[in-house]
Amino acid sequence: IRRPPRSTPLYSSAASDVYKRQMLKESIKVRAPATVANVSCGFDCLGYAISNPADIVTIKKNNDPGIEISLSGIKADTIPTVAENNTAGKGLLSLLEALNLKQGFKVHIEKGIHPGSGLGSSAASTVAAVFGANILLGSPLKLEDLLIHCMKGEIVSSGFAHADNVAPALLGGFILVRSYDPLDVLKLPIPENLLSINVLPDYIVKTKEARAILPKNISLTSAIKQSGNLSGFIAGLYERDFALMGRSMVDLFAEPFRSGLIPGYDSMRQSVMDSGAIGCGISGSGPSVFALSDSFDKANIIGKTMVDSFKKSGLKSKLFISPVNTFPPKILD
Ligand code: HSE
Repeated sequence: IRRPPRSTPLYSSAASDVYKRQMLKESIKVRAPATVANVSCGFDCLGYAISNPADIVTIKKNNDPGIEISLSGIKADTIPTVAENNTAGKGLLSLLEALNLKQGFKVHIEKGIHPGSGLGSSAASTVAAVFGANILLGSPLKLEDLLIHCMKGEIVSSGFAHADNVAPALLGGFILVRSYDPLDVLKLPIPENLLSINVLPDYIVKTKEARAILPKNISLTSAIKQSGNLSGFIAGLYERDFALMGRSMVDLFAEPFRSGLIPGYDSMRQSVMDSGAIGCGISGSGPSVFALSDSFDKANIIGKTMVDSFKKSGLKSKLFISPVNTFPPKILD
């Protein structure tokens, strides 16, 4: 993992002491946040963490093998509890296999993030579980080495081990997945005053289904435009150039095929841009939408525009405004 200039280390010595104390415990409670994947121009490559909502996962050591999963919170009854079919369970199984450990865990997942929201709901559960379990085991793996196990969880929910939700939930900040094979993940700089506006309408889009509607091949013309935009967006982050970021936030890979899943999307996007957003798009595989802004006042207006647009389509929605969350998952207990 390469870090941007002037970034703080992932582990401070104070943080290491906290982790050492935690490994003496039988259980741990961890909070991992929602994330925005794709960010328009970076399909499967770009993502950032926000502060709210979040999932909270409690992991208890169990000498017997196997992962026992229980759930509570938002739409918890829609999530499988068999470890192999649960994103957090799959991540933990991958971690235990890699460490050649026979022990098990009892896991309770408190869903604060709606499943099927496009806010990295499955990623947050997996990241909190894998992060917490690693600490209970005495931190055998470094933060960045947990990523591959968190990615295994994404296969369960989307059919592909995409890292653009799990990497920012695990590492914090704005992340570029430069390569999947070999895995090469970079932390990007975050311009000051950057705010994320996220609006979540009250219905589910399953990531697997939102991926199934995408074409298997993309034209060279689209690939050239998307490469230019992704490069432009990243240059904009480094240069703190909001205008460059904004004109780069165009998606030719997923948005044209997925926008039909979001009622009134095109007119909402236009109104959001007219309200002064840096850019606007579908958050992950939707149905959440996101926008970026450089001021809290504009962010409130943009958020209201999104909520009103969903209302016109007969949908209730929830608004979250947050800076990019730069922290790794938080130990609560
Ligand atoms: N990059 C993934 C997709 C994110 O768009 O399918 C899913 O949240």
